[in-house]
Amino acid sequence: MDGARTPATCPVLILLGPPGAGKGTQARMLEERFGYVQLSTGDLLRAAVAAGTEAGQAADAVMKSGGLVSDDIVIAILRDRLAQPDCTGGVILDGFPRTTVQAEALDAMLQETGQRINAAISLEVDDAAMVHRIAGRYTCGNCGEGYHDRFKRPTVEGVCDKCGGTEMKRRADDTVEAVSTRLEAYHAQTAPLITYYAGQDVLERVGAMGSIDEIATTLGNVVKAAAAR
Ligand code: AP5
Repeated sequence: MDGARTPATCPVLILLGPPGAGKGTQARMLEERFGYVQLSTGDLLRAAVAAGTEAGQAADAVMKSGGLVSDDIVIAILRDRLAQPDCTGGVILDGFPRTTVQAEALDAMLQETGQRINAAISLEVDDAAMVHRIAGRYTCGNCGEGYHDRFKRPTVEGVCDKCGGTEMKRRADDTVEAVSTRLEAYHAQTAPLITYYAGQDVLERVGAMGSIDEIATTLGNVVKAAAAR
């Protein structure tokens, strides 16, 4: 990572893409490579649900069904997280924004601090492949590292490569019904952001049907160029 950055110049990168596109997988790899902080609204909401906060209680049933949590709740959670000191070196937004209202709120937040979006990267995939990716997904219950029954197994079965944890878990919204609702929500409410960010001249399209490592290489080059702009 570059030396100390002022908030106004730290890179802001957005990963757009349907459920299972690999946003979380790639965001964690970018975090390790560039030192930027991954901000996943899905993870923040799941933490709120687990902690039983008011926002978590409101989000729980909506998330299980595969629908989108209300803009007010998500914007408030993201705003709080973005204000934390560890975000001043650069952020990768994973799963936010997901609606035009959220995109406009993000623009306003960044304007307040003199920041701007370096790139909104659309991970482009086929819906059919997403279902397979999601159906095989599980994560380490300790550190959150993601795995897949076929595409990304830990070196030692049942043991996390990253932290050695042995409790693996699957998400409550990775059912066939909820995945289909999540895909519908993506096409109806999030895909229009591709046009939104093309209009701001920050859109980058990355084909995301290759292997995890192939996509990471392409994405790394895109991020490097965008961060330098
Ligand atoms: P969220 O947690 O953001 O879920 P999502 O967008 O549905 O995305 P996923 O986490 O399912 O997929 P991903 O693209 O991160 O793929 P991954 O890398 O895991 O949101 C969950 C819910 O929270 C939403 O439905 C909504 O209710 C709520 N929410 C969150 N943000 C919100 C917002 N802004 N507004 C309103 N509501 C919000 O990869 C999937 C699997 O595939 C993994 O097992 C991985 O190992 C594997 N894999 C990844 N890449 C590849 C590859 N190239 N080849 C083969 N396998 C691969």
